[in-house]
Amino acid sequence: MKLIVGSDHAGYELKTRLIKELSLAGEAVEDYGTSTEESCDYPDIGLKVAERVAKDQKALGILICGTGIGMSITANKVPGIRAALAYNTYSAQYAREHNDANILVLPGRVFGKEMSLAMIRAWLGTRFAGERHQRRIDKISDIEKKYIQPAKEKA
Ligand code: RB5
Repeated sequence: MKLIVGSDHAGYELKTRLIKELSLAGEAVEDYGTSTEESCDYPDIGLKVAERVAKDQKALGILICGTGIGMSITANKVPGIRAALAYNTYSAQYAREHNDANILVLPGRVFGKEMSLAMIRAWLGTRFAGERHQRRIDKISDIEKKYIQPAKEKA
């Protein structure tokens, strides 16, 4: 499983520390930026990570901004993405078990490295439970289909 990781400037420091730990632990991590603490716009990074994860069944994403809210809103605009903002290990675990979240969003200005790693491990270490939860996810997909505009064909 590949981990596609991205942040804005508010999540940059935490992202850097998490990538180091996750790589040391043997995870295959791809860093989608940002690459400095200079101010940038979270939708730019959130979109790139979400598009990458939506295209690849073998990829999961981790997104970090200051609150986690902007990245959550952004990523959830991409069809096929279920981005969950984690606020403790319980929410991280159930984001996978019940919601099959393919992106975990972390707030860069709320928790430190250890708590963030604990949430990532809780999410990665849990399997989707399926059954009634699959039915609910199918309903979310139906909502996406209802509102997606068909892409205009290129002339
Ligand atoms: C950046 O200052 C901040 O607005 C951003 O990181 C995030 O918290 C937005 O939701």
